[in-house]
Amino acid sequence: MAKIALGVTSSVSIYKACEVLRGFQKAGYEVQVLMTRNAARLISPLLFSSLSGRKVIVELFADDHPWSVAHVALARETGLLAVVPATANIIAKFARGIADDFLSTFYLAVESPVLIAPAMNAAMFLHPRTQANVRELRARGVEFAEPGRGYLACGDEGVGRLAEPEEIVARGLDLLRRSGSLRGRTVLVTAGPTRESLDPVRFLSNRSSGKMGYEMAREALARGARVVLVTGPVALFPPAKAEVVRVESAAEMEAAVLREFPRADIVVMAAAVADFAFAAPSGRKIKKPGLPESLAVVPTPDILKMLGARKAGQVLVGFAAETEDLRENALAKVRAKNLDLIVANDVSRGDIGFEADDNQALLIDAAGRVTPTAKMSKRELSREIWNVLEEILVRRS
Ligand code: PMT
Repeated sequence: MAKIALGVTSSVSIYKACEVLRGFQKAGYEVQVLMTRNAARLISPLLFSSLSGRKVIVELFADDHPWSVAHVALARETGLLAVVPATANIIAKFARGIADDFLSTFYLAVESPVLIAPAMNAAMFLHPRTQANVRELRARGVEFAEPGRGYLACGDEGVGRLAEPEEIVARGLDLLRRSGSLRGRTVLVTAGPTRESLDPVRFLSNRSSGKMGYEMAREALARGARVVLVTGPVALFPPAKAEVVRVESAAEMEAAVLREFPRADIVVMAAAVADFAFAAPSGRKIKKPGLPESLAVVPTPDILKMLGARKAGQVLVGFAAETEDLRENALAKVRAKNLDLIVANDVSRGDIGFEADDNQALLIDAAGRVTPTAKMSKRELSREIWNVLEEILVRRS
């Protein structure tokens, strides 16, 4: 059974890390505690050693580590790194890749899921720099147990209170449960828009930000899959460990997807492929006086339909971006493209669909069964979709 590495940093809520340690132990996990030097000044490592039955690691270089390169050796055995409580400092170090003590060095070496439970003064948590660090780590696949509101050690009231230990344990165990469910599978995800050039300056495109597709890729990675992410131009950090193929046009996306398709077990087409391209793109900038009265367009290849015609055992997932008759239009796409599942979202709304952080969908399978979801973050929706996809995989095996 994989070990849990519990990183402990210096916040007044440090004593709650003992409850988290106990919670993981009750679930049957062996826990290795890693403390920062400041944490070890606030509370004796002896307490954590007594609870865990293992020597706490504080120093990067210590004579008594049983391993030659301790952080690498421990990283191999670790199924989850949970940092409870996490200060603004450790979050900043993780985000920037600064490795100047055992815990921050370990973070770079570990390949397991990472759960961070921040605890700090409200102003520090809401500081734009801390928020940017949190966003960046999230984008790279780190999970956060959100701090709650309440009275803080500094006497202020606000956000920054460590999440409840039971909640942190439940989140950690859920991450562990999901972490291997797609092991051995190759997942091909497309995300973002495509750009169809008119000339070297102008193009035709759409509003896709790539968020939905990136979340689908991130969740597949968290579940242990090998992930190939074919992405149009977006302003997002790709998830760590994804094999990223950057494309611009629908034709480039088609070539990349067809190349990867034979090795994929599951294909998720979350990209908003432009439906039209200019019939006669120019290699030079079109000057205003030479601008024709109208510009002819031609349809782009329907990549998903091609995959539907060629599929040989792959699970094929499409998305349907609709502004009306969501269910009927999506059902027609399931059939026309020979899909195993379609995620139908209403893109006429501003609070979901294109660019938004949230989404809400109808999940429609090949038999026409419709499962409506609540409105939730794209990250949460990607979990729901992967849960349904795993059921499809189980039914097939
Ligand atoms: O990127 P975000 O800002 O997070 O927004 C998310 C999203 C709205 C883009 C996403 O949730 C979504 O709906 N993606 C599919 C967009 C789309 O192209 O839908 P469609 O109904 O036009 O196409 C149906 C399916 O066919 C899609 O899976 C699409 O990838 C695929 N397709 C479409 C056209 C084409 N030429 N080739 C294709 O493969």
